[in-house]
Amino acid sequence: MDINSIAKKMVAKGKGILAADESTGTMEKRLKSVNVECTEKNRLNFRETLFSSNSMKTNISGVILFDETLRQTSSLGISIPELIIKSGALPGIKVDKGAKILAGSKNEKITEGLDDLRPRMEEYYKLGARFAKWRAVFSISDTHPTVQSIKSNAHALARYASIVQEAKMVPIIEPEVLMDGDHTIDKCYDVTSIVINECYKELQLHNVNLSGTVLKPNMIIPGKDCKSKVSTEEIAAKTLKCLKNNMPKEVPGVAFLSGGQSEIEATRNLNEINKINDTDFNFTFSYGRALQQSALKTWAKSMDDKSKVQKVFNHRAKMNGLSSKAEWSDSLEQVA
Ligand code: 13P
Repeated sequence: MDINSIAKKMVAKGKGILAADESTGTMEKRLKSVNVECTEKNRLNFRETLFSSNSMKTNISGVILFDETLRQTSSLGISIPELIIKSGALPGIKVDKGAKILAGSKNEKITEGLDDLRPRMEEYYKLGARFAKWRAVFSISDTHPTVQSIKSNAHALARYASIVQEAKMVPIIEPEVLMDGDHTIDKCYDVTSIVINECYKELQLHNVNLSGTVLKPNMIIPGKDCKSKVSTEEIAAKTLKCLKNNMPKEVPGVAFLSGGQSEIEATRNLNEINKINDTDFNFTFSYGRALQQSALKTWAKSMDDKSKVQKVFNHRAKMNGLSSKAEWSDSLEQVA
């Protein structure tokens, strides 16, 4: 499949991406929160339970994996990428090596992992991956993000994207403006606009084929400690306006991160964005926590009852699939 077809498949209506690419460190935090030991076996057991759910066929277009998972064999005897492909979804791979302190800055972060990226991409392709993810993070404060952090992260994202396309895979461009802090929704709008704009300047400079990319942004929402509350309608209107103003037309679509929103908030906001979408862009999800939280809690209590865990995951995936078509409503949650 060419990269434009892969990108279109990733953001196809009714489906979205499962971000299950938590590093071992992040997985340790997630499993600790449900009192489960973070062993390789447990990580595989939880993830394999999700990847063999029915909703993989109906509502999941792709799964972002961590390096460890891409190499694992499922209990069915086939590899994890094969298990995902069998359900009709695409395996993807997180290729950045995490956000580290940016030298010369006051505690801002730069995402690393470019040095050996070219040979790693060749190997990931052979292992079955067809798209990749690189996440840059930007914090908001009176002084952040600085021009230094915006420019250096946009540059790294563009260099990553170019190498990924060279390996015939689709790069997910993930510039995440974090929810931490008490900033207003308008501050989030302004910062996200500047960040996305700078990313596309760099992507164009590095000759990235935009029709073979997917944008994974944050929604436009106030900081989690912001006193003034906003409506779903305002979030959707400002998110759509920000993306319309800053995304080149060639990009097939957007797969939002959830970034600390609750499961229902993330579903409701995506649904509202799709209700008012008057663009040719497809808007869907690439959620980590907002797809896995309830399933993880159920799994922690009933590890051996796969179907119980899958029922919870299937419901969340279905709800988000509906919201990618603006067909979700609150009442569908209550029936579950
Ligand atoms: P969240 O949806 O939990 O923000 O995770 C998405 C992701 O892939 C972060 O890089």
